[in-house]
Amino acid sequence: MMLVYAKIDSLQEKLTSFKSNISIGFVPTMGALHQGHLSLIEEAKKYNDIVVVSVFVNPTQFDKKEDLDNYPITMDSDLRMLEEIGCDIVFTPTANEMYEDGLKSEHFDFGGIEYEMEGAFREGHFDGVGTVVKRLFEIVKPHNSYFGEKDFQQLQIIKALVKLEQMNIRIVGCPIYRELDGLAMSSRNARLTVAHRKAAPFIRETLLKAKEMFGTENAVTVLQWVTDAFEKHPLLALEYFSIADEKSLKPIVQRIDNHDYRGFVAVMAGEIRLIDNIEL
Ligand code: PAF
Repeated sequence: MMLVYAKIDSLQEKLTSFKSNISIGFVPTMGALHQGHLSLIEEAKKYNDIVVVSVFVNPTQFDKKEDLDNYPITMDSDLRMLEEIGCDIVFTPTANEMYEDGLKSEHFDFGGIEYEMEGAFREGHFDGVGTVVKRLFEIVKPHNSYFGEKDFQQLQIIKALVKLEQMNIRIVGCPIYRELDGLAMSSRNARLTVAHRKAAPFIRETLLKAKEMFGTENAVTVLQWVTDAFEKHPLLALEYFSIADEKSLKPIVQRIDNHDYRGFVAVMAGEIRLIDNIEL
């Protein structure tokens, strides 16, 4: 039977009752679960004795109040999905439980990756993510923790966090899960209007064409082509497109052998902000 805890003390009491050789896999989420989250949980189930999932909409990682206020909350169906998939323990804290000294973020030095892309467009976002994930890791003390590659920059930030804090946790990145028409799964997709939902697969299609172009053209040409493609689109507004080094996340200056590059995109589909990326 799946156990649900809202209090840190009761969760930790349960976790410390397990033998020391029991491995714990952890999937932190903000709820509004979809197939992408479930694929992380399936991965965690394969390699761990116990799977813990947290459901907590973390206020400190939102730079806009209306984005936080509108974030979908579907706790009943989340718990049903988690029970069905065979999750062992769910942690559903309140903001007071997680932030007993008030809603403040710690400031982290992640070596510069925090200032690129999402960091440049969403002020304080990665300090908020770092703060809550560090706290969750301290509470759950997992052996392995699973993150989706849709938030590729977040995945790199979490890898930097465990290094910085010297936490002995293996961070596992899992492939992007997509709808049949190619749109990357996201809790935010549920809030798209019918017209924007219909238009949204254009993001993936454009990334695929950019990948093809990057085989023969230089980055400046690809960048210009992607910018033009979105400028012509009536419903999708490009916030950024960046071809960046997978490790430093810095925009490419010149292609260097043995470096891996990715195309990263953020797009406004009406009121809803969508991100996606592609290995190049
Ligand atoms: O990716 C998310 O859902 C969130 O950023 C996370 C990692 C659960 C932290 O709040």
